[in-house]
Amino acid sequence: MAPENSKEELARIMQVYGDLKPPERLLLGAGPSNIDPRVLKALTLPIVEHLDPFFAGVMSETVDLLRYAFKTGNKVTFPISGTGSAGMESAICNIVEEGDEVVVCISGFFGDRISDMVQRYGGKSIEVRAQPGKIIEKEAVEEALANSNAKAVAIVHAETSTGILQPLKEISKITHEYGALLVVDAVTSLGGCELKVDEWGIDICFSASQKCLGCPPGLAPITVSERAMSVIRNRRTRVRSWYFDLSTIEKYWIESNRVYHHTAPILLVYALREGLRLLYEERLENRWMRHIENMRLLVGRIEEIGLKIFTDKNHICPAITAINIPKNVNDENVRRTLREEYNITISGGLGELKGKIWRVGLMGVNSSRKNAILVAEALKNALKKEKYYE
Ligand SMILES: Cc1ncc(COP(=O)(O)O)c(C=O)c1O
Repeated sequence: MAPENSKEELARIMQVYGDLKPPERLLLGAGPSNIDPRVLKALTLPIVEHLDPFFAGVMSETVDLLRYAFKTGNKVTFPISGTGSAGMESAICNIVEEGDEVVVCISGFFGDRISDMVQRYGGKSIEVRAQPGKIIEKEAVEEALANSNAKAVAIVHAETSTGILQPLKEISKITHEYGALLVVDAVTSLGGCELKVDEWGIDICFSASQKCLGCPPGLAPITVSERAMSVIRNRRTRVRSWYFDLSTIEKYWIESNRVYHHTAPILLVYALREGLRLLYEERLENRWMRHIENMRLLVGRIEEIGLKIFTDKNHICPAITAINIPKNVNDENVRRTLREEYNITISGGLGELKGKIWRVGLMGVNSSRKNAILVAEALKNALKKEKYYE
C-alpha cells in the first residue's frame, strides 16, 4: 500500500488548496446570470443513471417544458450537452455539407462565429453585415438570397455583443420564399424576449441554459422543424461531427425506446427542468414583459446619469443593454469599482467594441426594478470616482 499523507503534508495541501469560497456577485453582465435558489437546489438532488427510468421521465418533462419555452410543437426539441456554442455548432454541422451556401447575417461577434463554423464545415458563408449597433436589413438578406443558391439563412436573434434584438418575421418570410431554412441563435433571447419558433417559421433554433433561463452553463436547448430534419436525414454525406449528429442524439432524447448516445449531464438536466418550471409558473408572456419593463427603466436611468445607449433605440434587446463608454473614462477602472465596491459584474465590449461599450444584462431572475436602479446608481458613483462629472 502506498504511504498515507503525513499530518503536516495534509495540512499543507488543505492550506494551499483550501475550500472554495467564491464571491457572491450580482451578475449583471452578458451572462451567466445568477441562479434561482430552486435551480441550485435541483443541482444537489441524488444522481441516477442516464438510462434510469426515473431520468427518462425527467427527460420527457424537460422536452415538454422546452417546447413551451420555444413556443413550438417540434418533435426534435432537447438540450444539447454543451454551452451555447455547442448548440450553434450542432445547428451548423447538421445543415452544412461540402460546398453548401449559407447566408450568414452578421450584426456582431456571434454572427461572425456562425460564419466561421459554416466555413469550418466546408460551407460557403455569404455574409450580410449590419452597421455596429444596428439590425440586419431584410432587403440585404433578400439580395443575398437572390444572388446565391443558399440552403439556409443563419441569424442571431439577440446579438449579445451589441445589444440588438433582430426582428425575424420578415426575414423568415423571405428565407422561405427562396426555399431556404432559417437558423436562429436565441442564446440570449430564449426565456427573456419574445420568440415564437413555429409562428415565425424558424427551422432550427438554439439557445443556452445560463442566460434568461437562469441555470448554470452547460446545456444548449435546440429545436428543429420537420422540414429541417428531412433535409438532415437526406444528406448526401454523414454529419462530420459524431457528437452533434442530431439524428443520433434524437434516439436518446426523443424516442421512447431510448438508445444510449452519451452520458447526459444529469444534474444539469434537473437544473434546466427547474429553470423551465419557473418560467412556466411565471408564464412566458409575463416574463417577456418583465424584461421589457426593466430594460426601459434601466435605459431611462442610464440616460439620466448622462450616458448614451450604443444600440439603435428601436431595437434594444430587453435582456442586454449596450452603453457607450464616454471618452476619457477608463473601462477597466469603472468595472473594477463595480466589482470591488458593489460586488456587481457588468461586461465590457467584445472584439472591436472592447473599451468602447459596457453591456448590462438583466436576465432571468436578475431582471428586476431593484437591479436596474442599483446598477445605474453604481455606475454613476464609479463615474464620479473617475471624475467624469467634473
Ligand atoms: C448570441 C450568442 N450566441 C452564442 C453564444 C455562445 O454561447 P456559450 O458562451 O454558452 O458557448 C453566446 C454567448 O454569450 C451568445 O451571446
